[in-house]
Amino acid sequence: MCGIIGIASSKKDRTLTDVLVSSLARLEYRGYDSVGVASLDEGGIDVRKAKGKVVEVVKRKKINEMTGYLFLGHTRWATHGAPNDQNAHPHIDCTGKIAVVHNGTLTNYKELREELESLGHKFRSDTDTEVIPHLVEEFVKRGMDSFSAFKAAVSSLKGSYAILMIMEGERRIFFARLDNPLVIGLGEDNKNFVASEYAPFLPFTSTVVTIQDGEVGFVTPSSVYIEKDGKVVDVNDRIHKLNFSVISASKGGYSHFMLKEIHESPLAVKETISTMLSDEAVVEASRIISNANRVFVVAAGTSYHAALFFTRYLNLSSLTAIPVIASEYSSYKAKSGDVVLALSQSGETLDVKMAIKKFRNDGASIISITNVIESTISRESDVKLYMRAGPELGVAATKTFVSQVASLMILKSRVLNEDTSYLAKAPQILEDAVEETEGKMKRWSTLIDFPSVYYLSKGIGVPLAMEGALKIKEVAYVHAEAYPAGESKHGPIALVSEGFPVIFVNPGLDELKVNMEEMKSRGAKIFSISTVNTNLTDNEVIVKSERDLEPFALSPPLQLLAFYVSVNKGIDPDRPRNLAKTVTVE
Ligand code: AGP
Repeated sequence: MCGIIGIASSKKDRTLTDVLVSSLARLEYRGYDSVGVASLDEGGIDVRKAKGKVVEVVKRKKINEMTGYLFLGHTRWATHGAPNDQNAHPHIDCTGKIAVVHNGTLTNYKELREELESLGHKFRSDTDTEVIPHLVEEFVKRGMDSFSAFKAAVSSLKGSYAILMIMEGERRIFFARLDNPLVIGLGEDNKNFVASEYAPFLPFTSTVVTIQDGEVGFVTPSSVYIEKDGKVVDVNDRIHKLNFSVISASKGGYSHFMLKEIHESPLAVKETISTMLSDEAVVEASRIISNANRVFVVAAGTSYHAALFFTRYLNLSSLTAIPVIASEYSSYKAKSGDVVLALSQSGETLDVKMAIKKFRNDGASIISITNVIESTISRESDVKLYMRAGPELGVAATKTFVSQVASLMILKSRVLNEDTSYLAKAPQILEDAVEETEGKMKRWSTLIDFPSVYYLSKGIGVPLAMEGALKIKEVAYVHAEAYPAGESKHGPIALVSEGFPVIFVNPGLDELKVNMEEMKSRGAKIFSISTVNTNLTDNEVIVKSERDLEPFALSPPLQLLAFYVSVNKGIDPDRPRNLAKTVTVE
């Protein structure tokens, strides 16, 4: 949550603010409570910030007119202090000569603030972050050089952080990272970037340097310095080239990222399948899983729905798999011989990280599947697997969901020694489903006129129904619940009255027809997204599929329906209220 970016350039070039603003727009999905920028040139530090979205704040605060050699940018998802102008980042010290942006939460900020106030420091915000520039100011006052003061300030902090700092008199951006992501982009033309993730600087460079937990350092326009526990890190060992073919981080003619990313699903799945089929790490992971005592599949939100596919496949064989909602990890105990499969598209979800830590202490080994090379979760895993969905900037997981499902199908087929050739058809099935259902979902979106909706299915369709319900909740603010259709008779059906929408997700099962009749006879407005013709409702869309590939046929209409209901209601599906793309707080 919160996005941070720093740009260091040797030239004071007017186009730098354009680079910064476009980077902020690509970071906005991490938090859209407020936006702020700090620049540094010969005249000192200039901070402009306010509550609101990137486009509005850039216009209102004339951010395009800022000049400098160094820039910091921040998009905020508020944790400490209300989402208002004064709590927007960057935060500065008493003198205005130090500016800081931060992603994370500091658990000891109250004690630090009291101590600093007793020393005469004046605070302007209610945030935890503001202690950082004051701490650095204090250490400089006591005679330390800039980097030593920054390091001393960082070592006073408890909690989680990715921090960027600029200071008058310095042509470098200082950084520190603990439990929150931070990566460096090596640009051409004496211009370097440091940011929460790759997406903001992808259009400018794909050469990156990873920063690990506990590391501090600085970026200049032409160099990178990293150290850990006082020892210099060899940056050359950390440089790698990103190889996304779905690299575009712009809307590319679509109205919203969510719609663009649904349309990118076939390519994302194709890339994921071809990479994973030739990945030796998949073979290693499948060997470990085949020999496991139990497999805990740990994930949150959409990733948890993907986890349910895998546990279902494994439980239908002779293996034991347990799906775990990451935040509920303390309800489980692993032991030596158990394996954890952690699923997280971002690779940074805090609940998943905490679950991994706990299960590792219990004695389990860790396998992960993420969409971000060298993400924290990947680095904390014994075996790292990657899907190749490319950057996903809409808050709603769409192409990463189907890519997760594809990677899990490959993994389960390897574990169960199955032929994987059936997967070759997945991208085409997805493409047909997107093309053939979009018009109908647009029309259906006008028929979802109730405050609540049920999604019902059976077997392999249940996780899809759950995912459909989550999508419409998060982007369209419609109360939705998903159940195994049989279970709906044990309580939920009491809510069904004339016109109540019930969406059946039917992966070709005749058994579901009985449940459709039951709902219909109680006045429900029945919708059917199905791989077979049920002839039980006019609101039916038939998607083409093959056995075992149903998730690829049924997911796009569910995602498109949520998208169009959102747009009809005047909501921005890319920026739904209260949500952030990556949840890095408890
Ligand atoms: C998906 O649409 C949601 N935004 C959310 O549930 C998400 O899937 C969840 O926060 C997990 O994220 P991760 O895959 O990055 O760990």
